[in-house]
Amino acid sequence: MLSSAHPSTLPLIELRNVVKTYLSEAGEFTALKGINLQIYPGEFLGIIGKSGAGKSTLLNMITGVDHLTQGEVIARIGSQPTSVHTLNENDLALWRGRSMGIVYQSFQLLPMLTLLENVMLPMDLCGLYHPRESRRRALELLEMVEIAEHANKLPAFISGGQQQRVAIARALANDPPVLVADEPTGSLDSVTADHIFELFERLVAQGKTIIMVTHEMALMPRFSRHILIQDGELIVSPAATLTKN
Ligand SMILES: Nc1ncnc2c1ncn2[C@@H]1O[C@H](COP(=O)(O)OP(=O)(O)O)[C@@H](O)[C@H]1O
Ligand SMILES: [Mg+2]
Repeated sequence: MLSSAHPSTLPLIELRNVVKTYLSEAGEFTALKGINLQIYPGEFLGIIGKSGAGKSTLLNMITGVDHLTQGEVIARIGSQPTSVHTLNENDLALWRGRSMGIVYQSFQLLPMLTLLENVMLPMDLCGLYHPRESRRRALELLEMVEIAEHANKLPAFISGGQQQRVAIARALANDPPVLVADEPTGSLDSVTADHIFELFERLVAQGKTIIMVTHEMALMPRFSRHILIQDGELIVSPAATLTKN
């Protein structure tokens, strides 16, 4: 869906000239070189690029999981606009908990909790669902990603692809308006990957906004819009140019 279809709508998330420079023992490395991006409500946005292009770094700027070096990230999720880059860790965690579900590239399941408990945790932290309800809902979510039969196992006892599906269930726990997913099908076989993609398409049809990173060019036509990233810069496609006007 091009934003030109809804010109009066404000972006849900807006990145203004975002620069990210990592400092390490090897010196400075600028992974994002001034990103301007507007994401609109209801989009299924694909962020596509090769390994090392800056995709995960870009997601970390959108979610506030990491700090930007320069620029601004403005989000309009909920009642008032939020300058994500100015929030302290505490406010960031609160804002993130209300606004988005995140599927990390490395899953980040808690190793000492069962799969069911991993999915229940965001609900129990946020308090949106009664504890009795959160258990039932967690099971439903595990069923949705086709992993419910392992609900009581620890993450170490299931495969990477299975962990990835649990991470997707967990990201949906609080029914967030926005889902941010970093290569969420990267560890899945093609049939399961397709099921997950179809699930995302259903969620978008229900009104969610999904931002998904992938290095699979073949997925390109299935997003409502895609952007390409290379060496920390967006490659402006004709469609993206259209959306500016
Ligand atoms: N914490 C870090 N410190 C230094 N360099 C990093 C760090 N994280 C990522 N990079 C570098 O930034 C670039 C972009 O990384 P990343 O965003 O993870 O790429 P992608 O997700 O597209 O594979 C890569 O060259 C990577 O080596
Ligand atoms: Mg990555």
